[in-house]
Amino acid sequence: MKNILVLPGDGIGPEITKEAIKVMEAAAKAFNFELNFDYGLIGASSIYEVGNPLPEETIQKAEKSDAILLGAVGVPELDGEKDPNRRPEMGLLGIRKAMELFCNIRPIKIYEAIKHLSPLKEEIVNGTDFVIFRELTGGIYFGKKGRSEDGQTAFDDCNYSVFEIKRIAKLAYEEAMRRDKKLLLADKANVLETSRLWRETVTEMNKDFPEVKLEYQFIDNAAMQVVMNPSQFSVVVTENMFGDILSDEASVIIGSLGMLPSASYGTKTALFEPSHGSYPQAAGKNIANPIATILSAALLLQYIGFNNAAKAIEISVDKALAAGIVTADINSDNASSTTQVGDFIAENVKKEAAVLA
Ligand code: IPM
Ligand code: MN
Repeated sequence: MKNILVLPGDGIGPEITKEAIKVMEAAAKAFNFELNFDYGLIGASSIYEVGNPLPEETIQKAEKSDAILLGAVGVPELDGEKDPNRRPEMGLLGIRKAMELFCNIRPIKIYEAIKHLSPLKEEIVNGTDFVIFRELTGGIYFGKKGRSEDGQTAFDDCNYSVFEIKRIAKLAYEEAMRRDKKLLLADKANVLETSRLWRETVTEMNKDFPEVKLEYQFIDNAAMQVVMNPSQFSVVVTENMFGDILSDEASVIIGSLGMLPSASYGTKTALFEPSHGSYPQAAGKNIANPIATILSAALLLQYIGFNNAAKAIEISVDKALAAGIVTADINSDNASSTTQVGDFIAENVKKEAAVLA
């Protein structure tokens, strides 16, 4: 029995996690394993309910979980709040830190069925299939912050230790070994001392992975390459802030934000969530695309050891796309609802199980 903590969060979070749970339950039944779902508060809904974005109870539940599935956090009503206890994203940053989720993985893969929706020309986006390893618990996000006494100056320190760099770089090298043995470090080593430490450390580690061809790009150049020639990338490793920006940029080139899952690995548990945000305008309307969350659930099942179930989900997503069972972000002329997409995928998982199990 595996324990999964579900943190639905805000906006479309509750709807999309519900579909992902539906699909996981179908997979558990079809592949004959047991999942136990528990629920916790995070983000704005938690602020409204208990007065802060990450209650101690959620952290305790997270600690006991085998894996966490998160929807999304954030509501426009709380944008610009200064009090950290009233900022939904502090829930997300807080759980990353508390669970030491240092490695965030965001795969960017083009789907044949939706590539016509890409803002890039088809010949440019063709063949795009890469993965960003974003450091998630260090750097400018978590450095000392403050204002000078007169309030006229502000600062956010950026710190990285060799230890922090090595633990994510190791995972990125291992992924490179599983893929085509290419690793790209995106940094700003021409300007930043932290980037120079990243470069030294990641270069030094190349001797432990001699088959991997290590390359470097400055982050500004990498940002440009993502839209000029995205198929050149395979595994990209980078620090927290650069990874945040690069992954948002990369996520739009495949045509819909609603397709991309993510996984965050740490020392205690792992957290899975869609790469997109809480899409408040769509909340409660049954129109949001649940696929990014369903694919995140597939990554979750893979992580806790149910590889065939994960594969069945991924195949079922492909079949939903091929059958045109998609939400309005993909086909506004003939849109299925959030629940219809979830139902189709859950049903199809059972069929795949007959083949795979
Ligand atoms: C992300 C988000 C978060 C981040 C925000 C909501 C704090 O943009 O997961 O990429 O900046 O890390
Ligand atoms: Mn982001």
